Amino acid sequence: MASYLQAHIEQIAITLRNASSIAVLTGAGISAESGVPTFREAQSGLWSRFRAEDLATPEAFIRDPKLVWDWYAWRRQRVQAAEPNAGHVALARLQDKAARFRLITQNVDGLHQRAGSGDVIELHGNLLRSKCFDEAIVLADFDESHTPPRCPRCGAHMRPDVVWFGESLPVDALEEAVAAAQSCDVFLSIGTSALVYPAAQLPHAALTNGATVVEINKEATALSPHVQFSIRALAGELMPMVVRAAWPDD
Ligand code: OAD
Repeated sequence: MASYLQAHIEQIAITLRNASSIAVLTGAGISAESGVPTFREAQSGLWSRFRAEDLATPEAFIRDPKLVWDWYAWRRQRVQAAEPNAGHVALARLQDKAARFRLITQNVDGLHQRAGSGDVIELHGNLLRSKCFDEAIVLADFDESHTPPRCPRCGAHMRPDVVWFGESLPVDALEEAVAAAQSCDVFLSIGTSALVYPAAQLPHAALTNGATVVEINKEATALSPHVQFSIRALAGELMPMVVRAAWPDD
């Protein structure tokens, strides 16, 4: 391993071990090594192959609910067939070790929870849940033989419980995320292009409040010039090394 990377791992490990409060923001890159596609990468990103306007807005759903439902059903199947990777597992371990810890994710795949993370703040919802399009009530029991299924309470279409373009984030989740970013002393931004707001604001809120911000990403992002550490690495490779370096004994 390049010695500069080793030196950074040591530094980040010390920063984490000494932190009294850690907040982490993850994006699609943390799940990439599980085989879940990201959004904005040139060849493999979903938004390079599909148009968000056709698939990820309320207007698209009203226009063609079956198309939208089927696209999310396809994504759900991919996520269900995937397994959490070493990056997810390292973050679950970090939560066990840290004095105070909040994990904030933009991902809708539930892989953090499957890796053992608790109390995850889901900013963009979860693909594995569905809600009534009209009443926005999350329901687990509905007849899936129709596409899209109908709400058993009111007959409206069911839709995935994710945030679409043009929609607001869940208020509680956003408030908790902002509070975590503003009160932490170390903030990790992992596998996100840091382009989608308000999530992209969180590392800046942490910086404004004096936190050390560490970015881990395959490539440089809009956030990179602003942070104390910007590490080019795969999350599934680097995160286990960092957590092991910080807590080597067990
Ligand atoms: P993006 O696709 O915009 O960015 C993924 C980032 O992960 C890129 O910067 C990659 O360089 C990086 N990356 C890829 N593989 C990696 C790996 N193995 N290790 C580390 N980094 C890696 O995804 P997000 O930033 O999550 O919103 O996108 C934010 C939001 O835009 C998503 O939540 C989604 C999308 O539209 C909604 O669905 C509301």
